[in-house]
Amino acid sequence: MDLRIVEHPLVSHKLTVLRDQATDSPTFRRLTEELVTLLAYEATREVRVTPQAVQTPLATTVGVRLSTPRPLVVPILRAGLGMLEGMTRLIPTAEVGFLGMVRNEETLEAATYAERLPDDLSGRQCYVLDPMLATGGTLAAAVQFLAKRGADHITCICLIAAPEGVERLRGLLDGLGVPCTVVLAGMDEKLNEVGYIVPGLGDAGDRLYGVV
Ligand code: URA
Repeated sequence: MDLRIVEHPLVSHKLTVLRDQATDSPTFRRLTEELVTLLAYEATREVRVTPQAVQTPLATTVGVRLSTPRPLVVPILRAGLGMLEGMTRLIPTAEVGFLGMVRNEETLEAATYAERLPDDLSGRQCYVLDPMLATGGTLAAAVQFLAKRGADHITCICLIAAPEGVERLRGLLDGLGVPCTVVLAGMDEKLNEVGYIVPGLGDAGDRLYGVV
């Protein structure tokens, strides 16, 4: 597993405002989208492209276009939904599939409760969106799900991770046989006893959408 922490003053600034408990939901949503667009630039470094001739007003040259099949973006419900707009702004032609995963707050294990994804993901590059890499259970389950369907290149975009979660994810994905990259805006100190990232930003879903 390849881990990339994006170091850029704009990313750090936006992440700091996002962490602030005084930041309201509309601002939190907008900042999440902006951060994801910045992270997506790094996360799509290996997106597949195909050479293509292009006629400029002056001459013909060879450039590239995104290859088909198109990249597949997979937000994990519910908090990953807040990251979708920021991702599709950068790759408007991407397809979008959905994966609903819920964490059992006692066992901290992840279970799938909804999915809308192609049955066959052979040859697909997938971009999984989940803001908080806490215990790593949800993300590992999502990556395993996509790999089982044939995805052959998986990149996870998260805002914040805990070191314990990253190490667990690494262990769970070892031997999967599919290249997996995790792109982060920040690595925090630790998980607390109930699986929240410290200092973190609290419950990302609640801060995006309210406590429902
Ligand atoms: N999910 C969140 O939203 N926040 C955390 O800190 C951990 C998991």
